[in-house]
Amino acid sequence: MKIAVIQGPNLNMLGIREQHIYGPMSLEQIHDQMKASAEQNGVELEFFQSNLEGEIIDRVQECLGTVDGILINPAAFSHTSIGIKDALSAVNLPTVEVHISNIYKREEYRQKSITAGASTGVISGFGPFGYHLGLISLTQIVSEVKAVAAQQEQAQNKEAE
Ligand code: DQA
Repeated sequence: MKIAVIQGPNLNMLGIREQHIYGPMSLEQIHDQMKASAEQNGVELEFFQSNLEGEIIDRVQECLGTVDGILINPAAFSHTSIGIKDALSAVNLPTVEVHISNIYKREEYRQKSITAGASTGVISGFGPFGYHLGLISLTQIVSEVKAVAAQQEQAQNKEAE
């Protein structure tokens, strides 16, 4: 199973930016922890971070046919980007949106996520541990999707016999 991990603007500054909100861990440290738990479960992760909306849209589009699911923190673009939402809807893959902070407890302009409308589910407010929760959830969802697809293929093969 292959999962794309897509990180939005300013998440490359984790460990430096607003530690009282996002904690002391760097993005690299978060990714190292994710890699370790993914390996244990036979999951391959592809990491990507960008501060540019168009690059994130390109990366989401590239996911079609190359990965089984998307774990995304669109960061500030969550609240503004119809383009990223449309890209997620277009590829139509199992998707989990993660926010380190609890966006519903913060400024009003952060309390709505446009991109979440194209996600299977959202995890918000558990700190960097949210990425771990997101990975577990997404792995489960992808396994279920694969099992249903395998069942359907079997049924079709039987019909063709
Ligand atoms: C964030 C929340 C966003 O509102 C903010 O712009 C971020 C990070 C989070 O992970 O809590 O950059 O997505």
